[in-house]
Amino acid sequence: MPFDTNKFIATQTEAAKAKIGNKPALLALSGGVDSSVAALIVHKAIGPQLHCVFVDTGLMREKEAEKIKGAFEPLGLRVEVVDASARFFKALAGVEEPEKKRKIIGEQFIRIFEEYAKKHKIGVLVQGTIAPDWIESGGAGRDTIKSHHNVGGLPKDLGLELFEPLRDCYKHEIRQLAEALGLPPAIAQRQPFPGPGLAVRIVGEVTKEKAEIVRKCCAIVEDEIEKAAAAGEIERPWQYFAALLPTKTVGVRGDERSYHYTIVVRAVRSLDGMTANFSHLPPKLLEKISSRITNSVREAGRVVYDITNKPPSTVEME
Ligand code: XMP
Repeated sequence: MPFDTNKFIATQTEAAKAKIGNKPALLALSGGVDSSVAALIVHKAIGPQLHCVFVDTGLMREKEAEKIKGAFEPLGLRVEVVDASARFFKALAGVEEPEKKRKIIGEQFIRIFEEYAKKHKIGVLVQGTIAPDWIESGGAGRDTIKSHHNVGGLPKDLGLELFEPLRDCYKHEIRQLAEALGLPPAIAQRQPFPGPGLAVRIVGEVTKEKAEIVRKCCAIVEDEIEKAAAAGEIERPWQYFAALLPTKTVGVRGDERSYHYTIVVRAVRSLDGMTANFSHLPPKLLEKISSRITNSVREAGRVVYDITNKPPSTVEME
């Protein structure tokens, strides 16, 4: 049976009313399509009682806070930006292990939401968790592939009730919901972005410097791939980004020796992120991306293209 978006929206709007009533609720807005869809559904149910909070972790995409405010405020949603980057970098200092990083990030998010909720006397936290998030986090007796921060990072003493209207949905269904809810295409068609942000695109220890580098590289990959797709040169991949390996390699710039980080370009085709195939990007486009990265990001010494499918790898590096 096809997915009935209108029925789903009506059911979840009623569920939100029943769970939250006329009290205020806090929604963790990441700017991705999942939390955006959750925001619109809950906003239908409780209107201005919904506080959408965007946490700037220092690990978000370029100009993300501005983009989110620009997209949501015209729809009547209130968006609060919390700058918590210093706190995240401090908590992540010296931590290399991927699961540990995810747990720390999840915990920081939750503490920030708890503080906000306490200040505004809020009892319910709305999250845009979807099925692959909890399945990969070891849900329903499965092995933990990676702890999605909105699942694995939840502390046992969470002082908030959770409401997750999209828990049973897959990504393609979320996109159908986004369309039905009238989300602008800039958000509805947006590629997925992981909850822990650029932290899972920085292999090993996260630092502010590495976050700046990978953010710039991600913006270049997005820009070049979107331009090529708009020009009809390629089909837009399901997801495309850059990641940073801590491995430094030797290079030459002008007459001088350089010794800089390795940047991985990743682009995949997928339906729901559970499996994926690397995209066969044309060599000319890869060359353009590589030149632009090494020309404009000094600390990027080498650019490689990831030609691994999922399985055996995953989409993100960690
Ligand atoms: P992986 O790396 O597990 O990614 O193959 C599959 C899809 O999920 C995204 N991803 C996440 N999304 N919280 C999220 O909301 C997370 O912790 C998380 N980790 C990975 C990833 O970007 C890809 O689209």
